[in-house]
Amino acid sequence: MSDVQIEVVSGPLDGATADDVRLLAGRAAQEDGTAPLSEQPLLWLQDDEARVSHVLARREDALVGYAQLDLSLTATARGELVVDPAHRRHGAGTALLDAARSLAHAVPDRVLHVWSHGDLPAARAFADAAGMPAVRELWQMRLEQDDTPRDVPLPAGVTMRTFVPGQDEEAWRRVNSRAFAYHPEQGRMTKADLRARESEDWFDPDGFLLVERDGQLLGSVWTKVHAAGEHGPAPVGEIYVVGVDPDAQGLGLGRALTAAGLDHLAARGLRTVILYTGAENEVAIRTYRRAGFAHASSDVMFGSDTRRSPIGATMAS
Ligand SMILES: CC(C)(COP(=O)(O)OP(=O)(O)OC[C@H]1O[C@@H](n2cnc3c(N)ncnc32)[C@H](O)[C@@H]1OP(=O)(O)O)[C@@H](O)C(=O)NCCC(=O)NCCS
Repeated sequence: MSDVQIEVVSGPLDGATADDVRLLAGRAAQEDGTAPLSEQPLLWLQDDEARVSHVLARREDALVGYAQLDLSLTATARGELVVDPAHRRHGAGTALLDAARSLAHAVPDRVLHVWSHGDLPAARAFADAAGMPAVRELWQMRLEQDDTPRDVPLPAGVTMRTFVPGQDEEAWRRVNSRAFAYHPEQGRMTKADLRARESEDWFDPDGFLLVERDGQLLGSVWTKVHAAGEHGPAPVGEIYVVGVDPDAQGLGLGRALTAAGLDHLAARGLRTVILYTGAENEVAIRTYRRAGFAHASSDVMFGSDTRRSPIGATMAS
């Protein structure tokens, strides 16, 4: 029998526990070569407005595993989970998953989806043992560039300028939700989600470019710079979000925006650039391949069916 104790916290984590989670995630990233928790769950660790539950796994009072579940949707509960490399194969992952299933299934017929970053063999075997097939794949694409400007021209009548904080949020959110209407996370970026990103250290309006025609926003490219150590020894640029309003698609704006984002990053000395896109998004992948990106790694989402959680998961709140 597993000696793992599970605690579920539904408000924000206190500072010490959040630090323990970050350290644990850091140890796993070191061991696995890929970060187990993505940006949004890390931003939500201490966010009192986030509609998430934190699941903590302890052995003899030490934090050995963590899962976070986004419970804001009624159809799907989305989670990420990680076990300390020194405590794997002792049932901690299973205990976290059982608790996550109980939380997900508190709403009838809600399914649980769990992301595995880097498509690691242990996660594949773990998901397989738990009866959770792969349901979605996200690609990381990568490009090495020099500083030759691409200067892709904009269609006639279209102009480009940088994002103005405090002024452009609502227009950007409108176009973003139209461009990503099909997308489970990107399409529902709230005012608070946008504000949280604007107050991050990496946020730089000069790397957030908007295209307009007659004062009407048509699309944008948002870039990000990862500090040395996050994705390798040198800083790495990211084409963070490219979105074009459905009414303005097919004009070459996606290509022009991607090129403008790359030019901005090149001018800041960023040689390596990454981006993330759904493996099924053929149009985006074609655009990025033409810009010189190639597939680098995959994140896989595993999905449960609607089976009830196993009896006996220990819960506290
Ligand atoms: C995947 C992960 C959460 C598993 O945690 P864990 O505490 O080791 O999992 P458990 O001990 O509960 O393992 C349950 C079963 O999963 C399977 N499994 C887990 N790791 C495995 C591995 N490395 N190789 C083969 N099977 C494995 C086994 O069937 C195992 O049962 P067993 O030990 O009785 O054979 C952990 O490796 C991890 O944190 N990886 C990095 C983050 C990640 O990939 N998260 C996404 C998970 S979908």
